[in-house]
Amino acid sequence: MIGALERAHTLVGDAERIVVLTGAGVSAESGVPTFRGSGGLWKSRRPEELATPGAFARDPRLVWEWYASRRTFVSGCVPNDAHLALARLALTHSATTLITQNVDGLHHRAAEAVARDEDPTGAYPLEVHGAIHRDLCSSCGLRTPGRLDVDTTSAETLPRCDMCAGMLRPDVVWFGEALDPGVIGASFEAARLADVCLVVGTSAVVYPAASVPEITHQAGGTVIEINPEATPLTSMAAASLRGLAGELVPALLAETMIDRKR
Ligand code: OAD
Repeated sequence: MIGALERAHTLVGDAERIVVLTGAGVSAESGVPTFRGSGGLWKSRRPEELATPGAFARDPRLVWEWYASRRTFVSGCVPNDAHLALARLALTHSATTLITQNVDGLHHRAAEAVARDEDPTGAYPLEVHGAIHRDLCSSCGLRTPGRLDVDTTSAETLPRCDMCAGMLRPDVVWFGEALDPGVIGASFEAARLADVCLVVGTSAVVYPAASVPEITHQAGGTVIEINPEATPLTSMAAASLRGLAGELVPALLAETMIDRKR
């Protein structure tokens, strides 16, 4: 373990360009459940009943009920030491790109917490699967901040677009939907140029997001993984750190940032 952490530390310290891909595991210590594994959301819920365009067309009230409760839940969670360390890295090392599959907004909030009076935008992540705290109009495509008090009593009480009165939906990518081409394109470009891709807390089974470390690897860069369990990426990782993101990300990056200041 010491060996892997030292190796990872050297790789990150030597890297000019860093890309970070996070998944649900980075927010696990903030209390947000992951999707797969024991206690995962998709163990008790079938994604096709809640996270598909077909489900929304069939029963928008049921889908909103689920997302409104998740929106309220994550609004009560706070960024953990992994989010904060990644935000610090992105703010102090401008050639860092954060990419997240998470819709919980915790990287955003970590950026704002760490930046204080400075500009936090450099530490905002590319959110390849959208953001649960935003609404998207299913008719005109307008994106607006979402409200916490969504009334899910009936289909008639669900939120409507101020511009066109179309049905609003949470601005998250559902199964069977395409990712925003600008966001995933920018992610792939950052991955191609990166010397190191740090992958934190993802099972790395959902594409195209899981391509990010593969692209870095194919372009000659190095992959570092932080996860308590092995994943399909483990075989291509130069260093696999087995443990919790909230402990290992700060352990890796605190040393790295000290080195960068020298
Ligand atoms: P998963 O639930 O598939 O995987 C979570 C990963 O985090 C697993 O590999 C765990 O071993 C790891 N993990 C758990 N606790 C951890 C901790 N404290 N520190 C570090 N790692 C930990 O979540 P994702 O890979 O993010 O898509 O799932 C990918 C996509 O599948 C999600 O974005 C979502 C889902 O369906 C959409 O909603 C479109």
